[in-house]
Amino acid sequence: MFKRTLVTTALPYANGPVHIGHLAGVYVPADIYVRYLRLKGREVLFVGGSDEHGVPVTIRARKEGITTQQVVDRYHELIKSSFERFGISFDVYSRTTSAIHHKFASDFFRKLYDEGKFIEQTTEQFYDPETGHFLTDRNIRGECPHCHAAGAYGDQCEKCGSTLSPEELINPYNAETGNALVKKPTSHWYLPLDQYQQWLEKWILEDHKEWRPNVYGQCKSWLDGGLRPRAVTRDLDWGIPVPVEGAEGKVLYVWFDAPIGYISNTKELCDAQPERFGKWETWWKDDTTRLIHFIGKDNIVFHCIVFPAMLKAEGSYILPDNVPSNEFLNLEGDKISTSRNWAVWLNEYLDDFPGKQDVLRYVLTANAPETKDNDFTWADFQARNNNELVAIYGNFVNRALVLTNKYFGGKVPTSSDFTDYDRQTIDEFKNVKEQLESLLEEFRFRDALKEAMNLARIGNKYLADTEPWKLAKTDMDRTATILNLSLQIAANLSIAFEPFLPFSSEKLRKMLGMETVNWDALGSLNLLSAGAQLGEVSLLFEKMDDEPIQKQLDRLARIKKENEEAAKQAELANWKPQPVKTPVSIDDFDKMDIRVATVLNCQPVKKSERLLQFTLSDGFGERTILSGIAQSYPDPSVLIGKQVLYIANFPPRKMMGIESQGMILSAVDADGKLVVTTTFRTVHDGAAVG
Ligand code: MF3
Ligand code: ZN
Repeated sequence: MFKRTLVTTALPYANGPVHIGHLAGVYVPADIYVRYLRLKGREVLFVGGSDEHGVPVTIRARKEGITTQQVVDRYHELIKSSFERFGISFDVYSRTTSAIHHKFASDFFRKLYDEGKFIEQTTEQFYDPETGHFLTDRNIRGECPHCHAAGAYGDQCEKCGSTLSPEELINPYNAETGNALVKKPTSHWYLPLDQYQQWLEKWILEDHKEWRPNVYGQCKSWLDGGLRPRAVTRDLDWGIPVPVEGAEGKVLYVWFDAPIGYISNTKELCDAQPERFGKWETWWKDDTTRLIHFIGKDNIVFHCIVFPAMLKAEGSYILPDNVPSNEFLNLEGDKISTSRNWAVWLNEYLDDFPGKQDVLRYVLTANAPETKDNDFTWADFQARNNNELVAIYGNFVNRALVLTNKYFGGKVPTSSDFTDYDRQTIDEFKNVKEQLESLLEEFRFRDALKEAMNLARIGNKYLADTEPWKLAKTDMDRTATILNLSLQIAANLSIAFEPFLPFSSEKLRKMLGMETVNWDALGSLNLLSAGAQLGEVSLLFEKMDDEPIQKQLDRLARIKKENEEAAKQAELANWKPQPVKTPVSIDDFDKMDIRVATVLNCQPVKKSERLLQFTLSDGFGERTILSGIAQSYPDPSVLIGKQVLYIANFPPRKMMGIESQGMILSAVDADGKLVVTTTFRTVHDGAAVG
C-alpha cells in the first residue's frame, strides 16, 4: 500500500517562456492532481524545475548574443515566477545548473560507470577543425542528396521533407560558422538498453496495462522495434562534465541529467527543510512511495524506458507507478512552436489578463488534449468564459448571494421543510465526492471538471426553476429554504472547484464566510450554518468582450505574416538558377518562330484562376494568346500597350473554350512569379527574334 505520492512535472527547457501547450499538457493537470491529494490529506510532494542544459539553450544564447548562463538565468526566473503567479503549487522549483544537481548527477553517472553499467564505443562524428567542436545533427547543414536544395539540416531537408542523417549531406558545413567539416573519431558511454529489454517488457507491457493507451502504445512500439544502446554523453561545452579521467570536453547528455533533476531537486528541498519534508530518500527509495510523472507525449520514451532503465541500473530507486502523458495542444489550428513564436506565452497572458488565472486554467482543462491533440482558439476561450464560467457558475453564485443580501441582510437564512424538487436537487449531490474522486484518481481531469461544472448547472437551474425573487413577496419561509439550499450548493462548488480553479474558489469562500476548505465535507448540505454572516459580494467571473480577444487575434495574425515573410526570405536566400539544359543545334533553335507583338488588350479568363487572355497586334492583324500568368499579374491592364515576345508557330490550342494561337515568353523569378519578356526598345510588330 502506498503511503505518499511524489509528483513530478517535465522540466521545461530554459530557452524560452512556458506556453499554453506546456500548461495544458503537463502543469495544469499535475497541479489539479496535487491540490486534490493535499485536500484529501494525503502526503504529497510536488517537484518541478528548469532544464538548463542541452543544445537549445546554447542556440538561443548565440542568437541573442549573450552567454548561455545569461539565457538560463533569464528564462529560469521568468518561468518560475510565471508558474507562481499562475498558481502551480510546486513544493520545489529548482534548476539543473544548481551545484547540488551537478554533484548529484555526476555521482549518479560515476556509480553506474564504476559498476560497469555502461559500454564505451568509438564512432566517427562530424567535427569543425576551426572551432574544435563536434557538431549535433541540427547544427550541420549541406546540400540535400535527394532534391539538391542548399542548406538542408543534418536531420531533415525542409525543402523536400526527407529524413536525413548528417552522413548523407553533400558538402556538410557548420550551420553557424559555415566552416567545412571533417570526420573524427570520438568515444562515448552508452546505456545498453537492449540488456533491459526483457525486464522493461514485463514491467510495462504486463504490469502496467493500466497506463493510458497512448503511453502504453508508444512503449509497446519502442519495445517491439527492439531497444539499442543509447549514448549518455556528448561532445559539448555546456553541461555537466563527464566525471571520468580523459573525458575532457565531454558532458552528460541532457536527457541523462535532466530526469535526475527530479531527484536532486527533491534533495535540495528536503535538506533545507527536513522537519517539514523528511528525508529525500523516503521519496525516492521507499516502495511505499508512489511516483507519478506528468509529461507531454514527446517525453514518453525518456520517462517510460530510458529513465526507468537508469534507475534500475542504479538499483536503489523506486520506479514510476504511472506516467500520465497528454497529447499536444495546437493554437488556432497550427502546431505551437517556440522558435516561430506561435504560442500564447504564460507571462504575457498573466500581464494581458490580470486576475484571470482561473479562466485559462478552466479552458485548458475543459479542452485538455488527454486522448487526442486539441486546438486552443481565442473564440473558444471567450465562449467558455462567457457561456460557462459567467453564465452558469458565476451567475448562480451571484444570484444566491445578492438575493440573500436583499431579503436576509446578508445572513444565511434558516431552512424549513424541503419539497420533492428540493430533495431531487439534493440527491444530485449525494455521490459528488465519490464521482470526482474516482475521475481524479484516474487522471481524467476533463471529465472531473465537467462534473464540477454540472453541479453549478444544477444550482443555476434550481434557482431559475424556484424563482425565489417572486416568492419573496408572498412566502418568506420558502424563500429562506431555497436560498439556504442555494448557498449550501455554492459552498459545495467552492470545494469541488478548488483543485481546478483555486483563485475563484478562495474568492467564493470569502463571500460565503467559509474559513477553511474541507474536501471530506463535499456533498454535505450543512456547510453553512443559519444566521452566519456572508462576506462582501462581488462578481466571481466577468464577461469578456471582443476587444481583448481581438487584440490576441491581431497579434497572432501579425506573427503569421512575419513567419511567412521570413520563410520567403529564407527561400530567396537559398535560390539557385536551374542547371543549363542539354545542348541543342542552331537548326533546332531556328525551327522556333519567336516574334514581337504589341498588347492591345489583356484580361482575366472567366472562371479561370490562372489564365490571362491577350489580344495582340502581330503585324498581320490580331492574334489571341492565353497565358497562365494571372497569379503574377493581379492587374493585367498594366500590360496593355507593352510589346511582348511570343512563339508564333505553336499549333493552336483550345482552353476554356478559347483558341490560343501561340505562347507568350515569361521569365520565372526566384519567388516563382512570372515576368513577361519584352524588347529593349520598340520595334515593328511582327519582327522576328533570333
Ligand atoms: N526539457 C525537456 C522538454 O522540454 C523535458 C525534460 S523532462 C526531464 O522536452 F525529465 F528530463 F526532466
Ligand atoms: Zn531535399
